[in-house]
Amino acid sequence: MLTLIVNAAQAIAERITPERPDKGRIDVMTRRAGDWAEIGIRDTGGGISRENQPRIFEPFFTTKDVGAGTGQGLSIALRMITENHRGKLFFISRRGYRYELFHPPPA
Ligand SMILES: Nc1ncnc2c1ncn2[C@@H]1O[C@H](COP(=O)(O)OP(=O)(O)O)[C@@H](O)[C@H]1O
Ligand SMILES: [Mg+2]
Repeated sequence: MLTLIVNAAQAIAERITPERPDKGRIDVMTRRAGDWAEIGIRDTGGGISRENQPRIFEPFFTTKDVGAGTGQGLSIALRMITENHRGKLFFISRRGYRYELFHPPPA
């Protein structure tokens, strides 16, 4: 969760310029869908280019400068969510939503 929010904040920060000092926005959506809790995060940053979309979960894949990104955030998040929580994490592009995270709600 933190990884996804940090990515959203960084994506927004990358777009801020003196001419466009707009602070941007991160929306977090939650809802229950049957046995699943669904968490969606979207941001007003630049989004993920089509060519990068298949790669974002690869270990060490980053488009950020040295020091800003390690490329490990999403690969670790994917492993934690799928292995530890038996959930799913994937990229979706609907209306700027970048990710949806599903995991079983607490018993
Ligand atoms: N919210 C987002 N908006 C735009 N690009 C993103 C977003 N989240 C992830 N990305 C892209 O996916 C890459 C991998 O993300 P991540 O695994 O968290 O590594 P890092 O943040 O260290 O680069 C980022 O470098 C970026 O290109
Ligand atoms: Mg990251």
